Amino acid sequence: MSDAPGVIDRYAVFGNPVAHSRSPAIHGLFAAQTGQHLTYERLLAPVDGFDAALRAFIAAGGRGANVTVPFKLEAHAAATSLTARAAAAGAVNTLSFDGDRIIGDNTDGVGLVTDLLQNASIVIAGKKVLLLGAGGAAQGVMLPLLQAHPAQLVIANRTPEKAAAIAARFQQPAGQTVLPDLVACALGDLDAPFDIVINATAASLSDAVPVVSAAIFGPQTLAYDMMYASAPTAFMRLAAAHGAAVRDGLGMLVEQAAEAFFVWRGVRPQTDDVLAHLRAALA
Ligand code: ATR
Repeated sequence: MSDAPGVIDRYAVFGNPVAHSRSPAIHGLFAAQTGQHLTYERLLAPVDGFDAALRAFIAAGGRGANVTVPFKLEAHAAATSLTARAAAAGAVNTLSFDGDRIIGDNTDGVGLVTDLLQNASIVIAGKKVLLLGAGGAAQGVMLPLLQAHPAQLVIANRTPEKAAAIAARFQQPAGQTVLPDLVACALGDLDAPFDIVINATAASLSDAVPVVSAAIFGPQTLAYDMMYASAPTAFMRLAAAHGAAVRDGLGMLVEQAAEAFFVWRGVRPQTDDVLAHLRAALA
Protein backbone atom coordinates (compact mmCIF):
# COMPACT_ATOMS: atom_id res chain seq x y z
CA MET A 1 0.00 0.00 0.00
CA SER A 2 1.10 3.55 -0.62
CA ASP A 3 2.77 5.32 2.28
CA ALA A 4 1.68 8.76 1.11
CA PRO A 5 -1.83 9.82 2.13
CA GLY A 6 -4.10 10.72 -0.76
CA VAL A 7 -2.02 8.82 -3.33
CA ILE A 8 -4.05 6.24 -5.22
CA ASP A 9 -2.14 2.99 -5.69
CA ARG A 10 -1.84 1.93 -9.31
CA TYR A 11 -2.13 -1.61 -10.66
CA ALA A 12 -2.38 -2.99 -14.19
CA VAL A 13 -2.61 -6.09 -16.32
CA PHE A 14 -0.01 -6.52 -19.07
CA GLY A 15 -0.87 -8.62 -22.10
CA ASN A 16 -0.93 -8.68 -25.88
CA PRO A 17 -3.75 -8.69 -26.73
CA VAL A 18 -5.22 -7.28 -23.53
CA ALA A 19 -8.43 -5.53 -24.60
CA HIS A 20 -10.47 -8.63 -23.71
CA SER A 21 -9.09 -8.84 -20.15
CA ARG A 22 -11.73 -8.87 -17.42
CA SER A 23 -9.16 -8.19 -14.71
CA PRO A 24 -9.89 -4.42 -14.46
CA ALA A 25 -13.59 -5.17 -13.88
CA ILE A 26 -12.80 -7.87 -11.31
CA HIS A 27 -10.30 -5.77 -9.36
CA GLY A 28 -12.60 -2.76 -9.56
CA LEU A 29 -15.36 -4.82 -7.92
CA PHE A 30 -12.92 -6.16 -5.29
CA ALA A 31 -11.71 -2.62 -4.49
CA ALA A 32 -15.26 -1.29 -4.13
CA GLN A 33 -16.27 -4.22 -1.94
CA THR A 34 -13.28 -3.94 0.41
CA GLY A 35 -13.02 -0.13 0.42
CA GLN A 36 -9.50 -0.23 -1.01
CA HIS A 37 -8.37 2.88 -2.84
CA LEU A 38 -6.68 1.83 -6.09
CA THR A 39 -6.78 2.01 -9.86
CA TYR A 40 -6.35 -0.97 -12.19
CA GLU A 41 -5.81 -0.56 -15.92
CA ARG A 42 -5.07 -2.61 -19.04
CA LEU A 43 -1.60 -2.08 -20.53
CA LEU A 44 -0.91 -3.39 -24.02
CA ALA A 45 2.83 -4.10 -24.21
CA PRO A 46 4.49 -4.70 -27.59
CA VAL A 47 5.26 -8.41 -28.07
CA ASP A 48 8.99 -7.59 -27.95
CA GLY A 49 8.64 -4.80 -25.38
CA PHE A 50 7.34 -6.27 -22.12
CA ASP A 51 10.40 -5.50 -20.02
CA ALA A 52 10.54 -1.83 -21.07
CA ALA A 53 6.79 -1.41 -20.51
CA LEU A 54 7.06 -3.01 -17.07
CA ARG A 55 9.95 -0.75 -16.03
CA ALA A 56 8.10 2.34 -17.27
CA PHE A 57 5.09 1.35 -15.17
CA ILE A 58 7.24 0.85 -12.08
CA ALA A 59 9.00 4.20 -12.69
CA ALA A 60 5.57 5.86 -12.93
CA GLY A 61 4.67 4.56 -9.47
CA GLY A 62 2.96 1.23 -10.26
CA ARG A 63 2.53 -0.93 -7.14
CA GLY A 64 1.79 -4.27 -8.76
CA ALA A 65 0.70 -5.96 -11.95
CA ASN A 66 -0.92 -9.02 -13.38
CA VAL A 67 0.64 -10.58 -16.42
CA THR A 68 -1.16 -12.59 -19.05
CA VAL A 69 -0.39 -14.16 -22.43
CA PRO A 70 2.27 -13.99 -23.82
CA PHE A 71 4.37 -12.46 -21.02
CA LYS A 72 4.25 -14.90 -18.09
CA LEU A 73 7.73 -16.27 -18.80
CA GLU A 74 9.19 -12.78 -19.25
CA ALA A 75 7.59 -11.71 -15.97
CA HIS A 76 9.27 -14.72 -14.36
CA ALA A 77 12.60 -13.56 -15.81
CA ALA A 78 12.06 -9.93 -14.71
CA ALA A 79 11.36 -10.85 -11.08
CA THR A 80 14.19 -10.27 -8.59
CA SER A 81 12.65 -12.91 -6.32
CA LEU A 82 10.03 -15.62 -6.75
CA THR A 83 7.53 -17.20 -4.41
CA ALA A 84 7.73 -21.00 -4.13
CA ARG A 85 4.57 -21.39 -6.20
CA ALA A 86 5.91 -19.11 -8.97
CA ALA A 87 9.19 -21.05 -9.03
CA ALA A 88 7.24 -24.32 -9.30
CA ALA A 89 4.99 -22.93 -12.02
CA GLY A 90 7.96 -21.61 -13.99
CA ALA A 91 5.80 -18.59 -14.81
CA VAL A 92 4.55 -15.42 -13.12
CA ASN A 93 1.06 -13.91 -13.32
CA THR A 94 1.34 -11.51 -10.34
CA LEU A 95 4.09 -8.96 -9.70
CA SER A 96 4.56 -6.74 -6.65
CA PHE A 97 6.97 -3.79 -6.64
CA ASP A 98 8.85 -2.81 -3.51
CA GLY A 99 11.63 -0.27 -4.09
CA ASP A 100 14.09 -2.01 -6.41
CA ARG A 101 12.54 -5.40 -5.76
CA ILE A 102 10.19 -7.10 -8.21
CA ILE A 103 8.48 -10.02 -6.50
CA GLY A 104 7.09 -12.66 -8.85
CA ASP A 105 4.15 -14.80 -7.76
CA ASN A 106 1.75 -17.18 -9.45
CA THR A 107 -1.88 -17.35 -8.31
CA ASP A 108 -3.29 -19.43 -11.21
CA GLY A 109 -2.96 -22.81 -9.49
CA VAL A 110 -4.39 -21.67 -6.19
CA GLY A 111 -7.19 -20.04 -8.19
CA LEU A 112 -8.08 -23.38 -9.77
CA VAL A 113 -7.93 -25.29 -6.49
CA THR A 114 -9.97 -22.65 -4.63
CA ASP A 115 -12.62 -22.68 -7.35
CA LEU A 116 -12.85 -26.48 -7.12
CA LEU A 117 -12.87 -26.69 -3.33
CA GLN A 118 -14.91 -23.64 -2.37
CA ASN A 119 -17.08 -22.65 -5.31
CA ALA A 120 -17.78 -26.09 -6.76
CA SER A 121 -17.62 -27.91 -3.37
CA ILE A 122 -15.46 -30.62 -4.91
CA VAL A 123 -13.21 -32.79 -2.74
CA ILE A 124 -9.73 -33.29 -4.19
CA ALA A 125 -8.14 -35.15 -1.26
CA GLY A 126 -8.10 -38.88 -1.91
CA LYS A 127 -9.50 -38.50 -5.45
CA LYS A 128 -8.19 -39.58 -8.85
CA VAL A 129 -7.33 -36.46 -10.83
CA LEU A 130 -6.42 -36.26 -14.53
CA LEU A 131 -4.66 -33.19 -15.91
CA LEU A 132 -4.79 -32.92 -19.72
CA GLY A 133 -1.95 -30.90 -21.26
CA ALA A 134 1.67 -30.21 -20.43
CA GLY A 135 2.16 -26.59 -21.41
CA GLY A 136 2.44 -23.53 -19.20
CA ALA A 137 -1.18 -23.75 -18.04
CA ALA A 138 -0.71 -27.34 -16.83
CA GLN A 139 2.63 -26.71 -15.17
CA GLY A 140 1.18 -23.66 -13.41
CA VAL A 141 -1.38 -25.73 -11.49
CA MET A 142 0.76 -28.76 -10.60
CA LEU A 143 2.00 -27.68 -7.17
CA PRO A 144 -1.35 -26.50 -5.74
CA LEU A 145 -3.02 -29.65 -7.11
CA LEU A 146 -0.43 -31.89 -5.45
CA GLN A 147 -0.79 -29.90 -2.23
CA ALA A 148 -4.53 -30.70 -2.25
CA HIS A 149 -3.54 -34.38 -1.72
CA PRO A 150 -5.28 -36.29 -4.50
CA ALA A 151 -4.79 -40.07 -4.27
CA GLN A 152 -3.50 -40.02 -7.84
CA LEU A 153 -2.54 -37.28 -10.29
CA VAL A 154 -2.17 -38.37 -13.90
CA ILE A 155 -0.74 -35.84 -16.35
CA ALA A 156 -1.47 -36.78 -19.95
CA ASN A 157 -0.39 -34.95 -23.07
CA ARG A 158 -0.56 -35.29 -26.85
CA THR A 159 3.25 -35.14 -26.75
CA PRO A 160 3.86 -37.56 -23.85
CA GLU A 161 7.52 -36.57 -23.35
CA LYS A 162 6.38 -33.15 -22.09
CA ALA A 163 4.06 -34.77 -19.53
CA ALA A 164 6.91 -37.01 -18.38
CA ALA A 165 9.22 -34.01 -17.96
CA ILE A 166 6.67 -32.19 -15.79
CA ALA A 167 5.96 -35.28 -13.68
CA ALA A 168 9.70 -35.78 -13.12
CA ARG A 169 10.03 -32.20 -11.90
CA PHE A 170 7.22 -32.63 -9.36
CA GLN A 171 8.11 -36.05 -7.95
CA GLN A 172 9.43 -34.44 -4.76
CA PRO A 173 7.75 -31.08 -4.13
CA ALA A 174 9.44 -29.13 -1.34
CA GLY A 175 7.91 -29.60 2.08
CA GLN A 176 5.51 -32.35 1.03
CA THR A 177 5.94 -35.70 2.71
CA VAL A 178 2.83 -37.62 1.65
CA LEU A 179 2.99 -37.77 -2.11
CA PRO A 180 0.17 -38.72 -4.45
CA ASP A 181 0.72 -41.37 -7.07
CA LEU A 182 2.04 -39.13 -9.88
CA VAL A 183 1.89 -40.65 -13.36
CA ALA A 184 2.63 -39.27 -16.84
CA CYS A 185 1.23 -40.75 -20.03
CA ALA A 186 0.01 -40.13 -23.56
CA LEU A 187 -3.61 -39.16 -24.23
CA GLY A 188 -4.12 -42.53 -25.94
CA ASP A 189 -3.13 -44.45 -22.79
CA LEU A 190 -6.20 -43.27 -20.86
CA ASP A 191 -8.94 -45.87 -20.56
CA ALA A 192 -10.52 -45.59 -17.07
CA PRO A 193 -12.70 -43.03 -15.29
CA PHE A 194 -11.39 -40.21 -13.08
CA ASP A 195 -13.09 -38.20 -10.35
CA ILE A 196 -11.79 -34.90 -11.73
CA VAL A 197 -10.60 -34.25 -15.31
CA ILE A 198 -8.98 -30.85 -15.88
CA ASN A 199 -8.46 -29.61 -19.42
CA ALA A 200 -5.30 -27.50 -19.42
CA THR A 201 -4.66 -27.91 -23.15
CA ALA A 202 -5.01 -25.02 -25.57
CA ALA A 203 -7.50 -27.06 -27.63
CA SER A 204 -10.55 -25.05 -26.50
CA LEU A 205 -9.03 -21.93 -28.05
CA SER A 206 -9.84 -23.44 -31.43
CA ASP A 207 -13.05 -25.15 -30.26
CA ALA A 208 -11.22 -28.48 -30.46
CA VAL A 209 -11.06 -31.29 -27.93
CA PRO A 210 -8.01 -33.36 -26.99
CA VAL A 211 -8.45 -36.81 -28.51
CA VAL A 212 -9.24 -38.95 -25.45
CA SER A 213 -11.26 -42.05 -24.69
CA ALA A 214 -14.76 -41.28 -23.39
CA ALA A 215 -13.98 -43.89 -20.70
CA ILE A 216 -12.29 -41.13 -18.64
CA PHE A 217 -15.74 -39.61 -17.99
CA GLY A 218 -18.52 -41.07 -15.89
CA PRO A 219 -21.37 -39.92 -13.69
CA GLN A 220 -18.93 -39.40 -10.79
CA THR A 221 -16.63 -37.17 -12.88
CA LEU A 222 -16.27 -33.40 -12.71
CA ALA A 223 -14.86 -32.24 -16.06
CA TYR A 224 -13.24 -28.83 -15.66
CA ASP A 225 -12.11 -26.67 -18.57
CA MET A 226 -9.60 -23.97 -17.62
CA MET A 227 -11.00 -21.95 -20.54
CA TYR A 228 -14.37 -20.22 -20.45
CA ALA A 229 -16.78 -18.79 -22.98
CA SER A 230 -20.40 -17.68 -23.11
CA ALA A 231 -21.36 -21.25 -24.07
CA PRO A 232 -19.91 -24.58 -22.86
CA THR A 233 -16.63 -25.45 -24.58
CA ALA A 234 -16.29 -28.46 -26.89
CA PHE A 235 -14.53 -30.31 -24.04
CA MET A 236 -17.44 -29.60 -21.68
CA ARG A 237 -19.96 -30.72 -24.29
CA LEU A 238 -18.08 -33.99 -24.83
CA ALA A 239 -17.79 -34.66 -21.09
CA ALA A 240 -21.46 -33.85 -20.47
CA ALA A 241 -22.48 -36.19 -23.29
CA HIS A 242 -20.77 -38.98 -21.33
CA GLY A 243 -22.49 -38.20 -18.04
CA ALA A 244 -19.93 -35.93 -16.37
CA ALA A 245 -20.71 -32.76 -14.46
CA VAL A 246 -18.95 -29.81 -16.09
CA ARG A 247 -17.48 -26.48 -15.06
CA ASP A 248 -15.56 -23.81 -16.97
CA GLY A 249 -12.62 -21.67 -15.86
CA LEU A 250 -14.46 -18.44 -15.01
CA GLY A 251 -14.26 -19.22 -11.30
CA MET A 252 -10.53 -19.88 -11.63
CA LEU A 253 -10.14 -16.45 -13.25
CA VAL A 254 -11.94 -14.76 -10.35
CA GLU A 255 -10.10 -16.77 -7.68
CA GLN A 256 -6.63 -16.13 -9.14
CA ALA A 257 -7.54 -12.43 -9.10
CA ALA A 258 -8.75 -12.64 -5.49
CA GLU A 259 -5.44 -14.22 -4.48
CA ALA A 260 -3.49 -11.48 -6.32
CA PHE A 261 -5.61 -8.84 -4.58
CA PHE A 262 -4.77 -10.48 -1.25
CA VAL A 263 -1.05 -10.54 -2.13
CA TRP A 264 -1.12 -6.81 -2.90
CA ARG A 265 -3.56 -5.47 -0.31
CA GLY A 266 -3.58 -8.00 2.53
CA VAL A 267 -7.38 -8.17 2.27
CA ARG A 268 -9.25 -11.18 0.93
CA PRO A 269 -12.29 -10.18 -1.17
CA GLN A 270 -15.50 -12.19 -1.35
CA THR A 271 -15.81 -13.76 -4.78
CA ASP A 272 -19.40 -15.08 -5.07
CA ASP A 273 -21.01 -11.86 -6.25
CA VAL A 274 -18.12 -11.04 -8.56
CA LEU A 275 -18.33 -14.46 -10.19
CA ALA A 276 -22.12 -14.12 -10.61
CA HIS A 277 -21.64 -10.65 -12.11
CA LEU A 278 -19.08 -11.92 -14.65
CA ARG A 279 -21.25 -14.91 -15.52
CA ALA A 280 -24.18 -12.61 -16.25
CA ALA A 281 -21.98 -10.31 -18.33
CA LEU A 282 -20.72 -13.28 -20.41
CA ALA A 283 -24.17 -14.48 -21.37
P1 ATR B 1 -0.42 -22.91 -22.45
O1 ATR B 1 0.53 -21.90 -21.89
O2 ATR B 1 -1.82 -22.41 -22.70
O3 ATR B 1 -0.41 -24.19 -21.67
P2 ATR B 1 1.30 -24.12 -24.39
O4 ATR B 1 2.44 -24.03 -23.42
O5 ATR B 1 1.53 -23.78 -25.82
O6 ATR B 1 0.10 -23.21 -23.93
O7 ATR B 1 0.71 -25.60 -24.27
C1 ATR B 1 -0.40 -25.99 -25.01
C2 ATR B 1 -0.85 -27.36 -24.52
O8 ATR B 1 -2.07 -27.71 -25.17
C3 ATR B 1 0.12 -28.49 -24.84
O9 ATR B 1 0.02 -29.49 -23.84
C4 ATR B 1 -0.42 -29.01 -26.18
O10 ATR B 1 -0.07 -30.33 -26.48
P3 ATR B 1 1.39 -30.64 -27.14
O11 ATR B 1 2.39 -30.47 -26.04
O12 ATR B 1 1.29 -32.01 -27.66
O13 ATR B 1 1.54 -29.59 -28.23
C5 ATR B 1 -1.90 -28.93 -25.89
N1 ATR B 1 -2.76 -28.86 -27.07
C6 ATR B 1 -3.00 -27.81 -27.87
N2 ATR B 1 -3.92 -28.13 -28.82
C7 ATR B 1 -4.27 -29.41 -28.58
C8 ATR B 1 -5.20 -30.32 -29.19
N3 ATR B 1 -5.93 -29.95 -30.26
N4 ATR B 1 -5.31 -31.56 -28.68
C9 ATR B 1 -4.57 -31.94 -27.60
N5 ATR B 1 -3.69 -31.13 -26.98
C10 ATR B 1 -3.54 -29.88 -27.46
